[in-house]
Amino acid sequence: MNMTEDLTSVDTHFAFGKNWESYSSLIDEAAIESSTQALVRLLGRSSLEGATFLDIGCGSGLHSLAALRLGAARLLSVDLDPDSVATTRAVLDRFMPGRSFVVEQRSVFDLDPAASGRFDVVYSWGVLHHTGDMTTALRRAVGMVAPGGVFLFALYRKTWLCPFWTIEKRWYTKASPAAQRRGQVAYRTVYRGLTAASALVRGRARRADSARERGMDFDHDVHDWLGGYPYESILPDDVEKLMTSWGLRHEASFLCAPTRGRTHGLLGSGCDEYRYRKEDG
Ligand SMILES: C[S@@+](CC[C@H](N)C(=O)[O-])C[C@H]1O[C@@H](n2cnc3c(N)ncnc32)[C@H](O)[C@@H]1O
Repeated sequence: MNMTEDLTSVDTHFAFGKNWESYSSLIDEAAIESSTQALVRLLGRSSLEGATFLDIGCGSGLHSLAALRLGAARLLSVDLDPDSVATTRAVLDRFMPGRSFVVEQRSVFDLDPAASGRFDVVYSWGVLHHTGDMTTALRRAVGMVAPGGVFLFALYRKTWLCPFWTIEKRWYTKASPAAQRRGQVAYRTVYRGLTAASALVRGRARRADSARERGMDFDHDVHDWLGGYPYESILPDDVEKLMTSWGLRHEASFLCAPTRGRTHGLLGSGCDEYRYRKEDG
């Protein structure tokens, strides 16, 4: 492995934006409704009326769109990948013509509350574990939350097979499209075999369900899972330690597994979703 690789640079990353660009043609009212319901669940309320909203790692823009639909008064969406930025702009223009929003190519590491202000809601779903430095990324995101505001985020659960998946993702990110397709076929075959064969595994292998729940699509999600590099993962108890040390209090979480420890990771990992509130003042 090349130890000089700068994992915070977009050059070393999986082409997330190309995948989002391809997925965005599938966005329809049903997907927007699922994404909106998923946001309402994590937010713990059904309106963002009057709230400022920062979407870090906006991807396709689907969840930024949900925030606007819920009444966010100010939306800033950022992503490191220029294709994600272009896709988010196109999706918001398509479904929210005339609404005001800002979409910028910016890394979480370059976010600055002195320049952009702090936000009532900072949302970063499935992003900060792909930045090359998850702990610093989390701290930067927390720095953008206004006093009394909430931080909504999702992070991959640590699994026993994370070292294997890290190697697989690094390979996949650099592989040819033909090799990637072979990887997808192999993964889908194992996925279908294991989910059909074992009720135990079926309980954990929620990729298809959880993709649909947020308005996403299974095939694009498989590509995103196999390629999602850089890759890190974390246990809920370690999230709790970080958040409390930065002055945030746990409000809700939706865990991807019945226990709080490592999962087996045979089919990959799932995302744990969290809502933390920053102390007032
Ligand atoms: C798995 S996608 C998640 C997209 C979206 N949040 C969602 O839930 O569908 C991860 C996104 O994070 C972006 N990303 C990776 N590193 C980043 C960074 N340092 N700053 C901002 N975005 C980043 C990627 O370009 C990609 O669009």
